[in-house]
Amino acid sequence: MRIAMIGTGYVGLVSGACLADFGHWIICVDKEESKIAALKRGEMPIFEPGLEELVERNVHENRLDFTTDLSSAVKNAEVIFIAVGTPSRRGDGYADLSYLFGAAKEIAGAIKGYTVVVTKSTVPVGTGDEVEKIIRDVNPKAEFAIVSNPEFLREGAAINDFKRPDRIVIGASDSRSREVMTEVYRPLYLNASPILFTERRTAELIKYAANAFLATKITFINEIADLCEKVGADVQQVARGIGLDNRIGSKFLHAGPGYGGSCFPKDTAALIQTAQEAGAPIKIVETVVAVNDRRKRSMADKIITALGGSVKGKTIGVLGLTFKPNTDDLRDAPSLVIIPALKNAGAIVRAHDPQAMVEATKLLPGIEMSHNPYEAAKGADALVIITEWDAYRALDLDRLKKELKVPIVVDLRNIYRPEEMAANGFRYTSIGRAPAGI
Ligand SMILES: NC(=O)c1ccc[n+]([C@@H]2O[C@H](COP(=O)([O-])OP(=O)(O)OC[C@H]3O[C@@H](n4cnc5c(N)ncnc54)[C@H](O)[C@@H]3O)[C@@H](O)[C@H]2O)c1
Repeated sequence: MRIAMIGTGYVGLVSGACLADFGHWIICVDKEESKIAALKRGEMPIFEPGLEELVERNVHENRLDFTTDLSSAVKNAEVIFIAVGTPSRRGDGYADLSYLFGAAKEIAGAIKGYTVVVTKSTVPVGTGDEVEKIIRDVNPKAEFAIVSNPEFLREGAAINDFKRPDRIVIGASDSRSREVMTEVYRPLYLNASPILFTERRTAELIKYAANAFLATKITFINEIADLCEKVGADVQQVARGIGLDNRIGSKFLHAGPGYGGSCFPKDTAALIQTAQEAGAPIKIVETVVAVNDRRKRSMADKIITALGGSVKGKTIGVLGLTFKPNTDDLRDAPSLVIIPALKNAGAIVRAHDPQAMVEATKLLPGIEMSHNPYEAAKGADALVIITEWDAYRALDLDRLKKELKVPIVVDLRNIYRPEEMAANGFRYTSIGRAPAGI
């Protein structure tokens, strides 16, 4: 099939490359000229494991191309996916749909013949109706259907998630567009990935409900972790003890510094707005958002306490800046709250991240970047682990201790064991676990 992907970001590029790998012919469109130029040179604009090889193979086999020219890309397409950003609107938490509506207007003027326009961006309930109206107003004669097909991939595991999804959700009201979408995803259907057909509004809401539920699960275990610290219990064992119950499940039960990233914060905020506007407020999600915001800020206090109550003039080495490992995405990362709070308290911060240091220097001015974890620790009064990159899981503890001025480690991801750290002479603080020996 001939498919146009509008928006070549994390979702658009991964989806486009994976659909090309299924054998479809894909043209990825973006307005950012430098991004398209880089892709044409074979350079990836984002870090995502396996993406470069996937793109290279499909470009080489002439199934994947890139352009800034939306009109020419969509006029030959049978299916047009919209995968542009829907960030939080400044100030009120509503999803900013200006990129989406802008794309819809451009698409409207260019489509030829029956075309299925698919919203892959995460959008509030009812947005499909508005996109339909925009296209109808601009081009009353156009023959098209609007479908909602929310994306559930996770950065860092995006290719596998796209190719082996737990489910594919398709919100479409007519049989013709459903048939087209079945054809798009036929390779996955053959692999037994369930396709759930719903009405459009239901599909739109499924995405928000899923993210809000996951954010709630994380926040729940984070609060249990706080309780564990007070009563001398171990949150990892509590998580295992409840996660083995199939009704609960073990995923998203890792206590940490609070969720961040490009989806949960903005999607929970948008769901709250939708629900309030509809007169059915979702109090549990409102609480989750408030608790999570507070948690990120409280992590700086935890670090300050571990350093004896003051960080004024002290040097703190930080490992990991991205909101999770295996991505270069810094959007709403806990590091963006924790590090400025440490700086405000008078600390000198030196950081390392395997992928995001260039971007981080723009977002975290005044932070020194290190070439490796040991350099970040050199002469520091403490080392703080904010993101659990694999590269930090097996550090040479002897060397680390020698590099640090004071052997304090604050591990906000619980990647080390308290006994192991104590045995190696560290003063170790983690999340929801008693220090060794208590
Ligand atoms: N990142 C994720 O992990 C993830 C997962 C699931 C769903 N989503 C959703 O997918 C959507 C896209 O997210 P993302 O992280 O890929 O965003 P992104 O910011 O990485 O990419 C969006 C791209 O769209 C481009 N763009 C904007 N307007 C355009 C237009 N009119 N024509 C062409 N290109 C245009 C931008 O230049 C940008 O490159 C969002 O709604 C997001 O909530 C994201």
